[in-house]
Amino acid sequence: MTGQLKETMNIKFENFVDTLDGEDLFDKTKRLDEVLSSGVLTGNEALGMVTMNKVQPESGIKEKDGSVHSVIMLGSNSYLNLSTHPQVMQGAREALEKFGYGMGAVSNYAGITDIHKELETRIARFYGTEDAIVFPSGYGANVGIVSALCGKNDIIINDAANHASIFDGCVLSGAEIKVFPHRDMKYLERILSRIPDEKTGRLIITDGVFSMDGDIAPLDRIVELAQKYNCRIMVDDAHGVGIVGKTGRGAAEHYNVMDKIDLHVGMLSKGPGGLGGYCAASKKITQYLRLYARSYFFSTALPASVAGGLNEVFKLLETDNAGRKKLWDNINYLKEKLVKEGFDIGHSQSAVVPVMIYDEAVLFEMYEKLRQRGVYVNIVTYPAVRRKECRLRLCAMKDLTFEQIDRAVEIIAELGREYGIIK
Ligand SMILES: Cc1ncc(COP(=O)(O)O)c(C=O)c1O
Repeated sequence: MTGQLKETMNIKFENFVDTLDGEDLFDKTKRLDEVLSSGVLTGNEALGMVTMNKVQPESGIKEKDGSVHSVIMLGSNSYLNLSTHPQVMQGAREALEKFGYGMGAVSNYAGITDIHKELETRIARFYGTEDAIVFPSGYGANVGIVSALCGKNDIIINDAANHASIFDGCVLSGAEIKVFPHRDMKYLERILSRIPDEKTGRLIITDGVFSMDGDIAPLDRIVELAQKYNCRIMVDDAHGVGIVGKTGRGAAEHYNVMDKIDLHVGMLSKGPGGLGGYCAASKKITQYLRLYARSYFFSTALPASVAGGLNEVFKLLETDNAGRKKLWDNINYLKEKLVKEGFDIGHSQSAVVPVMIYDEAVLFEMYEKLRQRGVYVNIVTYPAVRRKECRLRLCAMKDLTFEQIDRAVEIIAELGREYGIIK
């Protein structure tokens, strides 16, 4: 192990969070600055680098030192390349011309247009619900929905791998929070069976497709358990919408339980390639959220141009014409190649493909070298996952060619062998 790697071991994300006795509030920022500028790898080196093109399979990136080079892009959540789809961009352009670039008001005042209303109608139709509400950010959607619907007398039961925004919403709600190990249905039932009868406000929350593992929540079992123990269900299908399920309607369609989910939450920022979050549900629920979800009530509405682009996205998704089949060819090809090289890719069932590294110091070095050698992937460690489960996170994208995937996997495999991750 190099000296640099050894030193890295003591530098932890959470070291800088707490202010010690007698310290100024900002001292933690100075301590962090010293470490980041010391030359020791911390995994943060490329965070905040600049991309030079719209989302596309080969992109220019500008490193923090100002150097520019080209990478094969395996780190974008725009899995279907809809952020650059001509029909989508035209929809955005037309709305931009009509309404300008910002809304200047929250949704409940003068912040929404017919274009926004059309988007909500399209999302509701996509899920077969009475209505849908669109939030200006995905993070804000989860925080707002959970904290509006749950309070101190309620109990929320979460998969441990749920997104941070869900946990933040839980904390804000003041409800009792329970967590079951990732996809562990026995443990979930153990929690449910011990909830006192008088605690009747019960919500099970799970990601549909998990953002760091790419696997799908066992919604068939979750529905059974929710029915048995009188719980409501919320599914955040940020990474499933448009991609998994027979017609791309996500994890609930994959398990044929679309009509059993109380709150279909999703993000407009991943597969749909735009921005924002939504909840498709009954009219009574959306009406309640419009008044009590604080991240909706107190936050300026989505720009009309984004909503205009998203209307075109949902036209493509409704008819399953967004290129899902081509994306799946790439997902399967990428996964096959990685497995053939000997990598552990977990149990991915989506466009998110983890490559398990299990050693944080190696992860940081590999991430650096991959970029230098022309492959961009995401780096995932604490606090997104446990340190010992650290990994590279690869995203398949529809417009990648097999040749680009070949080249990327070859480079990842060379480094994997160099660091002893594969033989
Ligand atoms: C599962 C999940 N939920 C919510 C979010 C937040 O969405 P957004 O980035 O659109 O705010 C993300 C984004 O990383 C996510 O992966």
